[in-house]
Amino acid sequence: MEVIITENYESMSKLAASLIRQQLLSRPNSVLGLATGSTPVGTYKELVRMHREEGLDFSQVVTFNLDEYLGLPPSHPQSYRYFMDENLFKHINVPPGNIHVPYGHAESVVEFCAWYEEQIKAAGGIDIQILGIGGDGHIAFNEPGSSLGSRTRLKTLTEETIKDNARFFKDEAEVPRFAITMGVGTIMEAKRIILIANGKAKAAIIAEAIEGPITAQVSASVLQMHREVVVILDAAAGSKLKRADYYRWVYEQKKRLVPQMIGRM
Ligand code: PGA
Repeated sequence: MEVIITENYESMSKLAASLIRQQLLSRPNSVLGLATGSTPVGTYKELVRMHREEGLDFSQVVTFNLDEYLGLPPSHPQSYRYFMDENLFKHINVPPGNIHVPYGHAESVVEFCAWYEEQIKAAGGIDIQILGIGGDGHIAFNEPGSSLGSRTRLKTLTEETIKDNARFFKDEAEVPRFAITMGVGTIMEAKRIILIANGKAKAAIIAEAIEGPITAQVSASVLQMHREVVVILDAAAGSKLKRADYYRWVYEQKKRLVPQMIGRM
């Protein structure tokens, strides 16, 4: 697990976007796993800038989003499909047919989830997956207690997540109680993973997930088992890590000696 503590939100976002750019330059038809929430907004802004100013090409890219609220149609301003359109898709040249976001209005959720898994497989699997982390340690909507082998399915949100996400809705009662989410097992099959987190509210859960035991009570802790995961933090989110000095030292050595290996080991 590579842990990079950057100075601030902007440097976290720029580094995450630069790793995605590297991936797209080496494989223009990459399959990207995408996340929603406030954390990746800066990363998407930077990717949009790279597309506009540097011609970063998404014309062969295929995308899969992690999750979607149950019952919200893609046109709902709080749906994750709407979020993705506004923050990324409508500003880049990814073909609409290559975009996959779980469908919150699926008639049969069970059939939809099996189909989604099949689509990921048919695309050749996810090359690089972006993740945020919830205050309760969730990745996607895999709340505490989610099986570490779980697949795409319906999940009930925790009270903590409902409260956290109420800021995007008029009031807490409007926050959906269920979501369709990739499973922990689905996420673990991505070839590479970038977890980003910022702000002091994430410091304690980041320390648990990275330096604590692997447990289904903190879904993100299973990332310790993944072969190629990079965690990119701002200083506040990294402030409770016991080995922060070591992670900083490693990053300095890499920048100086093997910059091409940043985010690769
Ligand atoms: P946030 O959400 O990026 O809005 O903090 C992260 C998450 O819940 O996964």
